Amino acid sequence: MQHYLTTPIYYASGAPHLGHAYTTLIADCVKRYLLLRGDAAMLITGTDEHGQKIERTAQTAGIAPQTLVDELSKMFRDTWALLGIDVDRFERTTSATHEAFAQAFWSRLAERDEIYLDTYTGRYCVECEQYFTAGETCPVHRRPLETFEEASWFFRLSRYRDRLITHIETNETFILPIERRNEVLAFLKGGELKDLSISRTSTRWGIPVPGDAEHVMYVWIDALVAYLSALAPSLEAFETDDIQRWWRNTTHFIGKDILTFHAVYWPALLMAAGIALPRSLMVNGWLTAFGRKISKSDPETIVDPVELTEKVGRDGLKWYFLKTVQLGQDVDYSSDTLVQTVNADLANNLGNLFSRFAGLASKRLAEAWRAPGEPTAMLLRDNNRVRAVAIAMAFEAGNPPAAARAFIDAAAAVNAWFQQAEPWKVADEAGFAALLWGAYQVLADLTVMGTPFLPETMARARAVLGLPGDARWDEIGRCHETARAQPTGPIYARITQI
Ligand code: MSP
Repeated sequence: MQHYLTTPIYYASGAPHLGHAYTTLIADCVKRYLLLRGDAAMLITGTDEHGQKIERTAQTAGIAPQTLVDELSKMFRDTWALLGIDVDRFERTTSATHEAFAQAFWSRLAERDEIYLDTYTGRYCVECEQYFTAGETCPVHRRPLETFEEASWFFRLSRYRDRLITHIETNETFILPIERRNEVLAFLKGGELKDLSISRTSTRWGIPVPGDAEHVMYVWIDALVAYLSALAPSLEAFETDDIQRWWRNTTHFIGKDILTFHAVYWPALLMAAGIALPRSLMVNGWLTAFGRKISKSDPETIVDPVELTEKVGRDGLKWYFLKTVQLGQDVDYSSDTLVQTVNADLANNLGNLFSRFAGLASKRLAEAWRAPGEPTAMLLRDNNRVRAVAIAMAFEAGNPPAAARAFIDAAAAVNAWFQQAEPWKVADEAGFAALLWGAYQVLADLTVMGTPFLPETMARARAVLGLPGDARWDEIGRCHETARAQPTGPIYARITQI
């Protein structure tokens, strides 16, 4: 099975912050899970480099927009590498291939009579790059809206209301979690859809509209098409079977702020262009700081993910988010909770487990291979199998945090057994050997189950057990016939202060 996973194409108007990292880390975790299962998975991300917001940011900085986006795009790319995110392709909307692709997409809409020229008057938020029909201030950025009047190309969005409702109602996992699906359905059923303004004359910083050089494409059309252009160099290439196998199994990971664009405009545009719809949208809530959305326009809320990674490690940051995220809800970031979570789960629970085992086993593991199975260890293996199913189901349901909790609960159960059995006090040789043998098998499972969340820590844990670095899901529950163990130092070092 081939899976195509996307993060939003982030605005290259400011440095990446923890909010961007949040969605990207979730997507990375899902990709790692799919690879572990033996599936093929491709993760793409990129930068959204056109539009008024970028043009104004560049003006304020006194530099050319292209210089600004070159710099910021590189920063995003470097950040994902530093955070240990396994990105396959990084799409930039100012690349020549993307621009040609977006123009081909536009021409397709024109050929099919899906667009027309008219005039638009409305109130616009440059930060959102969006017109609002009600109110004087932007509900997200709380800034006054600006009144624009301009000639504009329109997309016949109004045609698609019923088809969108049918699609969302018949495809239960199209929008996850369910609260977001209900929100979109309520919006669609709440009234007529207006046609969508899809070009601008108020900025030059965009992709020229084919056949009408006065206009540039509305930045959102341009950016959404990046999901297609990241997969293929042209619309023709995109429509070949090889590429369609990826595209038809697409998951878009997004934040709730851009839900309407992805759940209403994007599927309607794809229908209009005769392109299949993505399989699902995974929508995360907001990461907040002091109760406010972490956002470039609210500098007090900004936390640099790279600095944080230097302090808590890549896996520390991944783990904190994956464990703490409540899908569908906002989560308030706090460095205290981060330190507590990673110390409790990674340094204490997992770290102690593997250090204790390594300490006990390094000298005497060979003897254990002649021992009969230890009954509690066998039960814990069954427990691992059950948790592995829970992890798989959570991923299927689009709920990585539930998977993270199932994994850490499995580790906690093994730890509790260790505390209680106190193998270091068992004098009887046969009993001790049986304990070691059982512990080895149980810990081996954990290294597989934890890989999607903690790739580096689990690789170290596997080194302790003498297992090869590349874990595979079907190892879970399998009996390892021979093994060695070597103390390698803690698999996760306790953090003191950040
Ligand atoms: N350029 C558009 C996306 C185009 S996709 C075709 C855009 N860019 S953005 O830089 O503003 O990124 C928005 C996304 O970043 C959100 O949807 C979410 O995935 C992530 N987040 C940014 N801040 C966030 C939080 N404070 N909390 C959670 N996610 C956040 O919109």
